[in-house]
Amino acid sequence: MNTTDTLQVRFRAVTYEADGILSFELVPMPPLKALPAFTAGAHIDLHLPNGLIRSYSLLNNPQERHHYLIGVNKDAQSRGGSRYLHEVLRAGDTLTIGAPRNNFPLDEQAPMNVFIAGGIGITPMMSMIARTQQLGRPWKLYYAARSRRNAAFLDALHGYHNDPNVELSFTFDQEPDGQRMDLAAIMKTLPPEAHVYCCGPLPMLTAFELAAAGLPPAQVHLEYFAAKESAAAEGGFIVELARSGKSVAVRAGQTILDSLLDIGIEPPYSCQEGVCGTCEVRVLEGTPDHRDLVLSNAEKAANNRMMICCSGAKSAKLILDL
Ligand code: FES
Repeated sequence: MNTTDTLQVRFRAVTYEADGILSFELVPMPPLKALPAFTAGAHIDLHLPNGLIRSYSLLNNPQERHHYLIGVNKDAQSRGGSRYLHEVLRAGDTLTIGAPRNNFPLDEQAPMNVFIAGGIGITPMMSMIARTQQLGRPWKLYYAARSRRNAAFLDALHGYHNDPNVELSFTFDQEPDGQRMDLAAIMKTLPPEAHVYCCGPLPMLTAFELAAAGLPPAQVHLEYFAAKESAAAEGGFIVELARSGKSVAVRAGQTILDSLLDIGIEPPYSCQEGVCGTCEVRVLEGTPDHRDLVLSNAEKAANNRMMICCSGAKSAKLILDL
Protein backbone atom coordinates (compact mmCIF):
# COMPACT_ATOMS: atom_id res chain seq x y z
CA MET A 1 0.00 0.00 0.00
CA ASN A 2 1.36 3.45 -0.91
CA THR A 3 1.31 6.25 1.62
CA THR A 4 -1.26 8.04 -0.56
CA ASP A 5 -3.66 5.05 -0.74
CA THR A 6 -6.81 4.90 1.35
CA LEU A 7 -8.90 2.08 2.83
CA GLN A 8 -12.20 1.61 4.62
CA VAL A 9 -12.19 0.64 8.30
CA ARG A 10 -14.85 0.09 10.91
CA PHE A 11 -14.81 1.78 14.32
CA ARG A 12 -15.31 -1.18 16.64
CA ALA A 13 -15.07 0.51 20.03
CA VAL A 14 -14.93 3.93 21.62
CA THR A 15 -13.41 4.09 25.10
CA TYR A 16 -13.25 6.83 27.73
CA GLU A 17 -9.56 7.30 28.62
CA ALA A 18 -9.57 10.56 30.60
CA ASP A 19 -11.62 13.73 30.84
CA GLY A 20 -11.95 14.98 27.28
CA ILE A 21 -10.00 12.06 25.79
CA LEU A 22 -11.52 9.07 23.99
CA SER A 23 -9.71 6.23 22.28
CA PHE A 24 -11.07 4.64 19.12
CA GLU A 25 -10.42 1.12 17.88
CA LEU A 26 -10.38 0.76 14.08
CA VAL A 27 -10.56 -2.69 12.49
CA PRO A 28 -10.24 -3.91 8.89
CA MET A 29 -13.34 -4.57 6.82
CA PRO A 30 -13.78 -7.74 4.76
CA PRO A 31 -12.17 -8.91 2.57
CA LEU A 32 -9.21 -7.24 4.28
CA LYS A 33 -8.00 -9.33 7.23
CA ALA A 34 -5.09 -7.19 8.39
CA LEU A 35 -4.36 -3.48 8.40
CA PRO A 36 -1.18 -2.09 6.80
CA ALA A 37 1.95 -2.43 8.94
CA PHE A 38 3.21 0.65 10.75
CA THR A 39 6.21 1.69 12.77
CA ALA A 40 6.25 3.24 16.26
CA GLY A 41 5.42 6.96 16.14
CA ALA A 42 3.33 6.70 12.94
CA HIS A 43 0.03 8.44 12.31
CA ILE A 44 -2.95 7.94 10.02
CA ASP A 45 -5.24 10.43 8.30
CA LEU A 46 -8.96 10.08 8.94
CA HIS A 47 -11.11 11.28 6.03
CA LEU A 48 -14.17 12.50 7.90
CA PRO A 49 -17.60 12.60 6.22
CA ASN A 50 -17.73 16.35 6.88
CA GLY A 51 -14.88 16.73 4.37
CA LEU A 52 -12.12 17.25 6.93
CA ILE A 53 -8.94 15.17 6.92
CA ARG A 54 -7.32 14.85 10.32
CA SER A 55 -4.14 13.07 11.45
CA TYR A 56 -3.94 10.99 14.63
CA SER A 57 -1.02 9.02 16.07
CA LEU A 58 -1.35 5.26 16.31
CA LEU A 59 -0.94 4.28 19.94
CA ASN A 60 -1.02 0.51 19.86
CA ASN A 61 1.85 -1.94 19.54
CA PRO A 62 3.23 -1.74 15.97
CA GLN A 63 3.24 -5.54 15.81
CA GLU A 64 -0.56 -5.57 15.85
CA ARG A 65 -2.24 -5.73 12.46
CA HIS A 66 -5.76 -6.66 13.57
CA HIS A 67 -6.56 -3.15 14.76
CA TYR A 68 -5.36 0.42 15.09
CA LEU A 69 -5.92 2.48 18.22
CA ILE A 70 -5.99 6.28 18.23
CA GLY A 71 -6.51 8.70 21.13
CA VAL A 72 -8.42 11.92 20.51
CA ASN A 73 -8.54 14.96 22.75
CA LYS A 74 -11.69 17.05 22.40
CA ASP A 75 -10.01 20.28 21.47
CA ALA A 76 -11.80 23.44 22.60
CA GLN A 77 -10.44 25.14 19.46
CA SER A 78 -11.56 22.22 17.28
CA ARG A 79 -12.04 23.13 13.63
CA GLY A 80 -14.41 20.17 13.42
CA GLY A 81 -12.13 17.10 13.59
CA SER A 82 -12.04 16.14 17.25
CA ARG A 83 -15.58 17.44 17.76
CA TYR A 84 -16.85 15.14 15.01
CA LEU A 85 -15.10 12.13 16.53
CA HIS A 86 -16.35 12.87 20.05
CA GLU A 87 -19.90 13.92 19.22
CA VAL A 88 -20.96 12.27 15.98
CA LEU A 89 -18.96 9.13 15.34
CA ARG A 90 -20.32 5.95 16.93
CA ALA A 91 -19.00 2.41 17.34
CA GLY A 92 -19.94 0.51 14.18
CA ASP A 93 -19.45 3.47 11.82
CA THR A 94 -17.14 3.08 8.86
CA LEU A 95 -14.65 5.61 7.64
CA THR A 96 -11.92 6.09 5.05
CA ILE A 97 -8.38 6.33 6.37
CA GLY A 98 -4.99 6.89 4.78
CA ALA A 99 -2.08 4.48 5.05
CA PRO A 100 0.20 5.00 8.08
CA ARG A 101 2.96 7.57 7.68
CA ASN A 102 5.76 8.26 10.12
CA ASN A 103 7.30 11.69 10.70
CA PHE A 104 8.30 10.83 14.26
CA PRO A 105 10.11 7.49 14.06
CA LEU A 106 11.71 5.71 16.97
CA ASP A 107 15.46 5.18 16.60
CA GLU A 108 15.57 1.43 17.08
CA GLN A 109 19.35 1.47 17.64
CA ALA A 110 19.18 3.94 20.54
CA PRO A 111 20.56 2.37 23.72
CA MET A 112 18.04 4.32 25.81
CA ASN A 113 14.88 6.28 25.02
CA VAL A 114 13.51 9.17 27.04
CA PHE A 115 9.92 10.14 26.26
CA ILE A 116 8.54 13.54 27.22
CA ALA A 117 4.80 13.93 26.71
CA GLY A 118 2.36 16.72 27.43
CA GLY A 119 -1.38 15.94 27.45
CA ILE A 120 -2.54 14.13 24.32
CA GLY A 121 1.11 14.11 23.21
CA ILE A 122 1.27 10.79 25.07
CA THR A 123 -0.34 8.98 22.09
CA PRO A 124 2.72 8.48 19.83
CA MET A 125 4.74 7.61 22.94
CA MET A 126 2.46 4.65 23.67
CA SER A 127 3.47 2.83 20.48
CA MET A 128 7.11 3.84 21.00
CA ILE A 129 7.02 2.48 24.53
CA ALA A 130 5.55 -0.84 23.33
CA ARG A 131 8.29 -1.13 20.71
CA THR A 132 11.08 -0.13 23.12
CA GLN A 133 9.86 -2.82 25.52
CA GLN A 134 9.98 -5.37 22.71
CA LEU A 135 13.53 -4.33 21.89
CA GLY A 136 14.42 -4.83 25.57
CA ARG A 137 15.93 -1.36 25.89
CA PRO A 138 15.63 0.88 28.96
CA TRP A 139 13.32 3.89 28.77
CA LYS A 140 12.04 6.77 30.87
CA LEU A 141 8.78 8.61 30.57
CA TYR A 142 8.11 12.16 31.76
CA TYR A 143 4.38 12.77 31.36
CA ALA A 144 2.74 16.12 32.16
CA ALA A 145 -1.01 16.73 32.32
CA ARG A 146 -3.21 19.23 34.14
CA SER A 147 -4.42 16.57 36.58
CA ARG A 148 -4.74 12.80 36.86
CA ARG A 149 -8.28 13.08 35.52
CA ASN A 150 -6.91 14.61 32.30
CA ALA A 151 -4.11 12.07 31.87
CA ALA A 152 -4.91 9.21 29.47
CA PHE A 153 -3.46 5.69 29.74
CA LEU A 154 -2.25 6.05 33.33
CA ASP A 155 -3.29 2.50 34.22
CA ALA A 156 -1.41 1.03 31.27
CA LEU A 157 1.67 3.08 32.15
CA HIS A 158 1.55 2.12 35.82
CA GLY A 159 1.71 -1.49 34.61
CA TYR A 160 5.41 -0.87 33.83
CA HIS A 161 6.11 0.38 37.32
CA ASN A 162 8.06 -2.62 38.59
CA ASP A 163 10.14 -3.07 35.46
CA PRO A 164 13.79 -2.34 36.38
CA ASN A 165 14.37 -0.98 32.84
CA VAL A 166 11.71 1.68 33.25
CA GLU A 167 11.45 5.02 35.05
CA LEU A 168 8.14 6.86 35.18
CA SER A 169 7.62 10.46 36.22
CA PHE A 170 4.24 12.19 36.27
CA THR A 171 3.62 15.93 36.66
CA PHE A 172 0.12 17.28 37.31
CA ASP A 173 0.49 21.05 37.48
CA GLN A 174 -3.11 21.90 38.37
CA GLU A 175 -3.34 19.54 41.33
CA PRO A 176 -2.67 20.86 44.86
CA ASP A 177 1.11 21.36 45.21
CA GLY A 178 1.43 20.49 41.52
CA GLN A 179 4.47 21.76 39.66
CA ARG A 180 5.30 22.34 36.02
CA MET A 181 7.65 19.93 34.32
CA ASP A 182 11.23 21.24 34.48
CA LEU A 183 12.62 20.37 31.07
CA ALA A 184 16.03 21.97 31.69
CA ALA A 185 16.47 19.86 34.83
CA ILE A 186 15.42 16.70 32.96
CA MET A 187 18.00 17.35 30.22
CA LYS A 188 20.76 17.53 32.84
CA THR A 189 19.94 14.01 34.05
CA LEU A 190 20.10 12.35 30.61
CA PRO A 191 22.80 9.79 29.95
CA PRO A 192 24.88 11.03 26.98
CA GLU A 193 23.70 8.20 24.70
CA ALA A 194 19.96 8.74 25.35
CA HIS A 195 17.58 9.65 22.54
CA VAL A 196 14.91 12.07 23.67
CA TYR A 197 11.41 12.38 22.17
CA CYS A 198 8.89 15.12 22.87
CA CYS A 199 5.27 15.60 21.85
CA GLY A 200 2.83 18.01 23.44
CA PRO A 201 1.42 21.53 23.22
CA LEU A 202 3.33 24.28 21.44
CA PRO A 203 4.77 26.00 24.58
CA MET A 204 6.14 22.66 25.77
CA LEU A 205 7.75 21.92 22.39
CA THR A 206 9.28 25.40 22.27
CA ALA A 207 10.70 24.93 25.79
CA PHE A 208 11.93 21.46 24.84
CA GLU A 209 13.76 22.75 21.76
CA LEU A 210 15.53 25.31 23.94
CA ALA A 211 16.36 22.81 26.68
CA ALA A 212 17.64 20.23 24.17
CA ALA A 213 19.67 22.71 22.11
CA GLY A 214 22.96 21.34 23.47
CA LEU A 215 22.23 17.72 22.55
CA PRO A 216 23.39 16.10 19.30
CA PRO A 217 20.55 16.80 16.79
CA ALA A 218 20.35 13.12 15.81
CA GLN A 219 19.31 12.29 19.40
CA VAL A 220 16.51 14.86 19.58
CA HIS A 221 13.08 14.00 18.15
CA LEU A 222 9.87 15.99 18.36
CA GLU A 223 6.44 16.08 16.81
CA TYR A 224 4.22 19.11 16.45
CA PHE A 225 0.41 18.99 16.35
CA ALA A 226 -0.01 22.55 15.12
CA ALA A 227 1.90 25.13 13.11
CA LYS A 228 4.50 27.32 14.79
CA GLU A 229 4.48 30.06 12.17
CA SER A 230 2.00 31.15 9.56
CA ALA A 231 1.94 29.67 6.08
CA ALA A 232 3.82 31.42 3.28
CA ALA A 233 1.08 33.34 1.51
CA GLU A 234 3.06 36.21 0.00
CA GLY A 235 2.48 34.77 -3.48
CA GLY A 236 4.09 36.37 -6.52
CA PHE A 237 5.68 33.27 -8.04
CA ILE A 238 4.90 30.61 -10.64
CA VAL A 239 4.53 26.91 -9.97
CA GLU A 240 5.11 24.60 -12.88
CA LEU A 241 3.84 21.03 -12.64
CA ALA A 242 6.34 18.78 -14.38
CA ARG A 243 4.05 15.79 -14.94
CA SER A 244 0.96 17.55 -16.23
CA GLY A 245 2.81 20.40 -17.91
CA LYS A 246 0.42 22.90 -16.28
CA SER A 247 1.54 26.04 -14.51
CA VAL A 248 -0.19 28.31 -12.06
CA ALA A 249 0.55 31.75 -10.65
CA VAL A 250 0.43 31.75 -6.85
CA ARG A 251 -1.21 35.02 -5.84
CA ALA A 252 -0.76 36.99 -2.61
CA GLY A 253 -2.94 35.50 0.13
CA GLN A 254 -2.69 31.98 -1.33
CA THR A 255 -0.60 28.95 -0.56
CA ILE A 256 0.63 26.72 -3.37
CA LEU A 257 -2.04 24.20 -2.34
CA ASP A 258 -4.76 26.88 -2.59
CA SER A 259 -3.65 27.83 -6.08
CA LEU A 260 -3.68 24.19 -7.23
CA LEU A 261 -7.13 23.55 -5.77
CA ASP A 262 -8.34 26.68 -7.58
CA ILE A 263 -7.47 25.15 -10.96
CA GLY A 264 -9.00 21.79 -10.10
CA ILE A 265 -5.84 19.92 -9.13
CA GLU A 266 -6.22 18.08 -5.82
CA PRO A 267 -2.93 16.69 -4.51
CA PRO A 268 -3.02 14.71 -1.24
CA TYR A 269 -3.21 16.97 1.82
CA SER A 270 -4.47 16.82 5.37
CA CYS A 271 -3.53 19.19 8.20
CA GLN A 272 -2.82 22.29 6.03
CA GLU A 273 -0.51 23.40 8.83
CA GLY A 274 2.78 21.82 7.83
CA VAL A 275 2.74 19.17 10.54
CA CYS A 276 1.52 15.91 8.96
CA GLY A 277 3.66 15.53 5.83
CA THR A 278 0.76 14.42 3.60
CA CYS A 279 1.27 17.17 1.02
CA GLU A 280 4.99 16.57 0.53
CA VAL A 281 6.11 17.07 -3.06
CA ARG A 282 9.48 16.70 -4.80
CA VAL A 283 11.02 19.98 -5.95
CA LEU A 284 12.71 19.67 -9.33
CA GLU A 285 13.79 23.29 -9.70
CA GLY A 286 13.66 26.50 -7.67
CA THR A 287 14.09 27.32 -4.00
CA PRO A 288 11.26 26.70 -1.55
CA ASP A 289 10.56 28.96 1.42
CA HIS A 290 10.10 26.18 3.99
CA ARG A 291 7.55 26.78 6.76
CA ASP A 292 6.73 23.20 7.79
CA LEU A 293 7.57 21.27 10.94
CA VAL A 294 8.06 17.93 9.20
CA LEU A 295 11.41 18.25 7.43
CA SER A 296 14.61 18.50 9.45
CA ASN A 297 16.91 21.48 8.96
CA ALA A 298 19.19 19.34 6.79
CA GLU A 299 16.26 18.19 4.66
CA LYS A 300 15.09 21.77 4.25
CA ALA A 301 18.57 22.88 3.21
CA ALA A 302 18.60 20.21 0.48
CA ASN A 303 15.62 22.01 -1.13
CA ASN A 304 14.52 18.90 -3.02
CA ARG A 305 11.14 18.44 -1.32
CA MET A 306 8.58 20.68 0.33
CA MET A 307 5.15 20.83 1.97
CA ILE A 308 2.93 22.75 -0.43
CA CYS A 309 0.22 23.51 2.16
CA CYS A 310 2.40 26.02 3.99
CA SER A 311 5.72 26.59 2.21
CA GLY A 312 6.23 29.14 -0.53
CA ALA A 313 9.05 30.11 -2.85
CA LYS A 314 12.18 32.20 -2.59
CA SER A 315 12.68 31.92 -6.36
CA ALA A 316 10.40 33.34 -9.06
CA LYS A 317 9.50 29.82 -10.18
CA LEU A 318 9.22 26.36 -8.67
CA ILE A 319 9.02 23.22 -10.73
CA LEU A 320 7.27 20.47 -8.78
CA ASP A 321 6.98 16.74 -9.44
CA LEU A 322 3.23 16.87 -9.85
S1 FES B 1 -1.15 18.94 4.61
FE1 FES B 1 -0.10 18.39 6.42
S2 FES B 1 1.94 19.05 6.03
FE2 FES B 1 0.78 19.82 4.36
